[in-house]
Amino acid sequence: MKKTILTGLRINSDFTLGNYLGALLPMVRLANKHSNEFNVNIFVPDLHSIISKIDGDLQKNLIYSIKCYLASGLILNENVHFYRQSYVPAHSELTWVLNCIATTGEMGRMIQFKEKSSGRESTNVGIFDYPVLMASDILLYSASYVPVGEDQFQHIELTRNLAERFNNRFGETFVVPENTKGQVEFMGADAGVRIRDLVNPEKKMSKSTESEKSKILLSDAPNVAAKKIMSATTDSFEDIEFDFETRPGISNLIQILALINNISVGEVLETWRGKTKYGDFKKAVAESVEKLLSSFQEKISEISDDEVLDLFPAGEKYANDVANAKLQEVFEKVGLR
Ligand code: TYM
Repeated sequence: MKKTILTGLRINSDFTLGNYLGALLPMVRLANKHSNEFNVNIFVPDLHSIISKIDGDLQKNLIYSIKCYLASGLILNENVHFYRQSYVPAHSELTWVLNCIATTGEMGRMIQFKEKSSGRESTNVGIFDYPVLMASDILLYSASYVPVGEDQFQHIELTRNLAERFNNRFGETFVVPENTKGQVEFMGADAGVRIRDLVNPEKKMSKSTESEKSKILLSDAPNVAAKKIMSATTDSFEDIEFDFETRPGISNLIQILALINNISVGEVLETWRGKTKYGDFKKAVAESVEKLLSSFQEKISEISDDEVLDLFPAGEKYANDVANAKLQEVFEKVGLR
């Protein structure tokens, strides 16, 4: 049986450079490399998106999100499948079953939940439960590889735990996805990607951060994005070294340059170490970002909405076939059928 690579991006607003470099681009590169031998499932987690505020129109965001994959150079073939989560009811149904083996203790330990609920006395239950929905997204399709940024690694581990628990209790049913080390290796990286906030590089770059200077959005005017890089917080060491512990700002820029140009951090260091104070280096990063956004935005403008909408019928037929077969197996194992 063919293995599966699978990912999704919530569609609450535009995407950040963090979403792009942490998940979108790795997915596109993996898909282009492996789609002859693997299934490549790209789905829109629309149900996940309604756990928090939607900026703009959900339907527009949805179409835009698929355009982003296409504009990043994704090559289509019969193994690449696009579908909307809410068009495949099995996601919600498996979530209910998995809810009954997940514990409130483990769910309460999810960092994303703690961050999204911090400072509030109470939140919607969706925010608490969405990692179980994410586990269903993955397990219904027996996905082995799930390219995501580092902030989602804990959810991959939860998915593995739920799959193993279910298999132990009810018999072999789910393919357990690779552990995070295996995921990182498959992506050809040394570690998970966490693009940092440009003003406070101790934090991850996030769409929900108020300050515009902190984040680069894929729709930012390229010259404005370049300016944000030029004014990014660095440090006073003034030499190029990579260490997120002591020099998160400059390390972030090194990582951005490496990922955009598809080279290793080591290669960036070889070129730049000892050669410069930060100004020239920042200029090189700013130029890379500017070039990336210009070409990306041009490609987006060339893709019509219909081109995207035409992808869903076949993708959703495939997704429902695969997901319903797995759900049936689950229902039988737990005695519902
Ligand atoms: P979401 O929508 O919050 O983020 C989408 C993807 O972008 C990555 N990401 C980052 N990567 C690096 N640096 C950053 N600063 C950064 N910010 C965000 C995220 O890690 C993610 O890969 N629950 C998921 C969506 C989802 C999903 C799934 C993904 C639902 N079901 C099944 C994979 C498989 C989420 O909320 O990601």
